[in-house]
Amino acid sequence: MTIGIIADLVVTGGTIVTPDTEYKASIAIKDGKILAIGDQDAMPEAKETLDATGLHILPGAIDVHVHFRDPGYPQKEDFASGTAAAAFGGVTTVFDMPNTLPAISDAKSLAEKHAIAGAKAHVDYGLYAVLGEDSLPNIGALIEGGVIGFKCYMGNTFGRIPSPTTGAMLELFEIVAPTGKRISLHAETNSIMERREARLRAMGRTDPLAHLAARPAVVATEAVARAAILSEWTGARIHILHISSAAELRPLAEAKARGVDITGETCPQYLLLSSDDYEEKCGVIRVNPPVRETENQDPIWQALVDGTIDMIATDHAPHSIEEKTREDIWTVDCGFPGVETQMPLMLTEVARRKASLSDYVRWSAEKPAKCWGLYPTKGALMVGSDADLAIVDTNREWTIDDANIQSTAKISPWHGMKATALPIHTIVRGRFAMKDRTLQDNAKGWGRSVHAIQEMPTPDVRNADQTMAAVTAPRKG
Ligand code: NCD
Ligand code: ZN
Repeated sequence: MTIGIIADLVVTGGTIVTPDTEYKASIAIKDGKILAIGDQDAMPEAKETLDATGLHILPGAIDVHVHFRDPGYPQKEDFASGTAAAAFGGVTTVFDMPNTLPAISDAKSLAEKHAIAGAKAHVDYGLYAVLGEDSLPNIGALIEGGVIGFKCYMGNTFGRIPSPTTGAMLELFEIVAPTGKRISLHAETNSIMERREARLRAMGRTDPLAHLAARPAVVATEAVARAAILSEWTGARIHILHISSAAELRPLAEAKARGVDITGETCPQYLLLSSDDYEEKCGVIRVNPPVRETENQDPIWQALVDGTIDMIATDHAPHSIEEKTREDIWTVDCGFPGVETQMPLMLTEVARRKASLSDYVRWSAEKPAKCWGLYPTKGALMVGSDADLAIVDTNREWTIDDANIQSTAKISPWHGMKATALPIHTIVRGRFAMKDRTLQDNAKGWGRSVHAIQEMPTPDVRNADQTMAAVTAPRKG
């Protein structure tokens, strides 16, 4: 018993999962931080206790890729419904994408989104800003205004954010490199897929598989390789979003081997769905990059296991039922919800493929926190870390039902899938966001932006003597 200190909450009886091991221990929480981890009788007195016997305690997941649509598209999602979905999925931090309306590309739109998120969020968040030709003059102001990183759309996207040319990308990378902020890339090359799509349309194709035909893996692979070259040249840190194919793994692994600060994520859809599902799921499965042929699944899984792919994210991209069920595939909105089902589906897959819970927390929490300079405040169950906990029943069989998801978008390809794990309680900085599968009233507005705790190591800026700044000023020496 620690004399004099009264904890806010002690969680007893659970099994703690770290990236290295699992062990039975209690966790004491005070002022939003983990105060102590140890035997139950070594815990301080507490205002509240939670019995987690039979449950696993994981660091809350950090989903670095969600689209919460706020402001702009409340019929799809808003920051309250999106973060409620996160809480139900054991996710305690989300990074929200900038393709809202307005897009987040200047200080004003960023400040507006901070106000919205600060008022509505049930979990912690980071906000992305667009990296494009329009936002080029605003990069300093955006960093000043508090972004977690930048998002560069190399391919077309919902919200029609123009993709920068390769020349503009180089300049943008040169500007961001010395700031240390990570640039996340939607790596699909527009010029390839535009031509393919035009041909398919001219042939009269409107079926779901035409979407995949328009975006073969070379679309993504060429983009990954090009982004990696620009990253190596400039020293800009980059992150490859939603890796969907085996072919992308080679340029990713090669860049890593060359010392490029490049990270990658994949999403449950690329491990669990395949081209065989288009016929049944039709437009519901339409997403960018597309769900691909089955033979991509094992190499992607293997890359997660061996660390070539660093983490799991979701690309939670909600759209309404009407927007997802249109007949002509080219008119169906791309994407579907996922923030709420990632942990149950991945833990089910972990059990099936015999990976460990430790592997999972490395992919879902530790790596995202490390790659964005949030570790060990986030992404760890250690004394002094933020008390962000996902308390999970890893032995619960249930079936996903779109009608019951928190997300406003009640349509996903996950409907009807069986899972063997379910988050029961989610704690964000010491406060229950979800308890006993119930959203907590006082959780709304508790979420905070994590940009303030972000600390990136000094970047290794390359070829600085050849940057635009050097071109416009006379060379020294
Ligand atoms: C995303 C969306 O809907 O915002 N859709 C998707 O298919 N992934 C945007 C995007 O990344 O293209
Ligand atoms: Zn994307």
